[in-house]
Amino acid sequence: MIISPHIVISLLTIVPLTTLAFPAQSISVKCENPNYYSTKYSMRGYSEEPNLDLLMSSLIQTTPRAGFVASIIGEPPHQVYGLAQCRSDVSNESCTSCLVKASQYLLRSCPYENGGIAYFDQCAVRYSADNFFFQLSTIEQHFAGCMLLSPPNEYQFKKQIFSMVKSISQIAAFNKTVRMFATGVNTQVYNSSRVYGMVQCTRDLSEHQCYKCLRQSFYRLSSVCVGSWESTSGSLSCILKISRVKVFDSDLTWVPPPDPDSMES
Ligand SMILES: *[C@@H]1O[C@H](CO)[C@@H](O)[C@H](O)[C@H]1NC(C)=O
Ligand SMILES: *[C@@H]1O[C@H](CO)[C@@H](O)[C@H](O)[C@H]1NC(C)=O
Ligand SMILES: *[C@@H]1O[C@H](CO)[C@@H](O)[C@H](O)[C@H]1NC(C)=O
Repeated sequence: MIISPHIVISLLTIVPLTTLAFPAQSISVKCENPNYYSTKYSMRGYSEEPNLDLLMSSLIQTTPRAGFVASIIGEPPHQVYGLAQCRSDVSNESCTSCLVKASQYLLRSCPYENGGIAYFDQCAVRYSADNFFFQLSTIEQHFAGCMLLSPPNEYQFKKQIFSMVKSISQIAAFNKTVRMFATGVNTQVYNSSRVYGMVQCTRDLSEHQCYKCLRQSFYRLSSVCVGSWESTSGSLSCILKISRVKVFDSDLTWVPPPDPDSMES
């Protein structure tokens, strides 16, 4: 297993389990490792740099109204490619402020890279020196924060997590209303605990690419983080989080149907 040093996963707010009403902000950044590409290593100090700054300010301006924007700035061979998106339930103002933070965070996190993506709660921003539009990233998935735990009934545990992740992945990919972002909770996992899930794809992908990306992420996560409660898996094209704490600030897209065998009521 290779874990890239470029991955930064952080919780800005540490939320104690007793204050779940106050959501944390979760941030994931993945830089585009230049080794996978034939193009230049960094835009900093090159002709692309002004184009990158232009790209970011244009994305910040145009995305709140549109929800999703993909844009190319500059003349060949100094073009830069970018996209930005906000969640469907986010106001124009919150979208703008999220994009400002996300773009700054992304440029700080990936200063000497070919590109990268920052996933925030309310928005995501990606840029690259290469045209990545409509392509499912083939760069190796990353994962972080596996917190291993052996629940008493591991088989049941896996089944329930699997069913939640499958449901929210299908919703994110195929329900156009949610703009490729969905969240869910499983309330019947273990000792009355809850496990939350969050998935998101970049919206240049097709429905099937999004679903495939999330399935691959979950496959990687479940083969590496066996029985884990806390994990993040994803790529330049999508992200999947599983957590005991509600580390996102949106309403839940999916809750499980009532289980007739459950002791809870
Ligand atoms: C954002 O502003 C535009 C006009 O600038 C408006 O058409 C749109 O409905 C607004 N969206 C939200 C979510 O407030
Ligand atoms: C799509 O998502 C919206 C918002 O969550 C929901 O109201 C709607 O019923 C969903 N559509 C389908 C076909 O599931
Ligand atoms: C189950 O939950 C109870 C109450 O929240 C807690 O006291 C107990 O330690 C938990 N048991 C395990 C095995 O986590």
